[in-house]
Amino acid sequence: MQSSTENLFTVETSKSIFEEACTYIPGGVTAHIKYMTPHPIVMKEAKGSKLVDVDGNVYIDYLLCSGSLLTGHGHPAITEAVTNQLHDMGTTIFGTPHLLEQQMAKRVIELYNGIEMARFTNSGLEATLLAIRIAKGFTGREKLAKFEGHYHGGYDQSLISVNPTMEEAGDTKRPTPVPESRGISNYYLEKTVVLPFNDLEATIQLLTENKDEIAAVIMEPVQGGYIPATQEFMEGLREITEKYGIVLIFDEVKTGFRVSMGGAQGYYNIAPDITTLGKVLGGGFPVGLVGGRKEIMEITNPISSRDILSASVETNKEKNGNKDSVLFHSGTYYGHPTILSAGKATLDLLEKDGILDKTIERTMWLRQELEALYARYGVTMKTIGLGTIFNIVFTDKEILNYRDMQESDFSMRDKIDRRLLELGVYIKPLTRYSMSTEHTQEDLEKTVALHEQVLKELTNK
Ligand SMILES: Cc1ncc(COP(=O)(O)O)c(C=O)c1O
Repeated sequence: MQSSTENLFTVETSKSIFEEACTYIPGGVTAHIKYMTPHPIVMKEAKGSKLVDVDGNVYIDYLLCSGSLLTGHGHPAITEAVTNQLHDMGTTIFGTPHLLEQQMAKRVIELYNGIEMARFTNSGLEATLLAIRIAKGFTGREKLAKFEGHYHGGYDQSLISVNPTMEEAGDTKRPTPVPESRGISNYYLEKTVVLPFNDLEATIQLLTENKDEIAAVIMEPVQGGYIPATQEFMEGLREITEKYGIVLIFDEVKTGFRVSMGGAQGYYNIAPDITTLGKVLGGGFPVGLVGGRKEIMEITNPISSRDILSASVETNKEKNGNKDSVLFHSGTYYGHPTILSAGKATLDLLEKDGILDKTIERTMWLRQELEALYARYGVTMKTIGLGTIFNIVFTDKEILNYRDMQESDFSMRDKIDRRLLELGVYIKPLTRYSMSTEHTQEDLEKTVALHEQVLKELTNK
């Protein structure tokens, strides 16, 4: 893979592929996350820490499929595990239980404080959707509390107040629920309480006002993967949710295996009632997991009740239980053997020789070098994050939540990100940096050097 050089940089092939894609696919992309202006860059190949686009440009990849690829692109151990699974089992999928499901569930249970039982899904979205349904079914309550700026997947109740404008967002201590898409019915707005992250007093106030109606509080323990909750906030939130019998859901789709092997809950030493995982757990394949306290997870047990897919000759009347006792969860591909093989190989790699800790150390090295570099050029900037994820923010203020972030200088960041793309650093403008075990010291030093080149151009120093 040859490095792109500044003068040769062109993305004309990407542009023409994108333009043709727009004929067949709305906006030319199969997910909004892949879109960027003026057009996305189309990739053709990847290995380790590098991406190669259709014009032949090589990038050091810090997007890593939104953080999924903690062991980089195409790790040989993962490729081998997947190939072996297909060969040894003789099929892609059984459609019945198989041993890997319980092995992987057991492995996750051993790692995560808050998980005593678990079920798989095929995405983070499905995991949080199920987690919320379980919480509503368990408590018999209908409302969900979520934090402003937190993302849990692209469905109706989750697509509220993820990225609102400051005009829409309302009172800091009492954020207005703002729909983020057309097609979200008012029902979800009425049934959602939006909370201010890292503001314990206001959060307690809103939970207290709605305590008999709120089934669950769902949160990213590290907002967007890079704004950590304070320890005090986490402890206070655990205490108040316990007091009111509200199910506390940690959505660890981003932080799982990236903050520690036991996720953010291991770092904070706090056990939520339900945890959702995704991304890294699938080793680059689509996965989700919902795990939690036994008492709560058991309500998904199909034996104790009847469900719409049960093959039973009994009449509805004779069936044990009624529809109210069913917490339905099913999917044709859930617990897919190929995905779980990739996930198992990923966990094996991460548990070997303290590799995750070393990757966290390298992330800290990069953050410190970048901070020192920007300081030398007199540009106010800081990095924020936890574990193997961080973000670059142009502000000298403390960042504790979504609204603090809105006050930072996005246009400076955007300018730098776009120039870095031309120089061979792949970061989708304005998004977080995720590290992999495959980023070498050379990659990191080159990243710092390319930032310096951009700074020289911007500051004329
Ligand atoms: C915290 C969090 N929850 C849920 C999701 C949804 O996961 P998926 O994209 O696998 O559906 C994401 C995706 O970025 C996420 O970051």
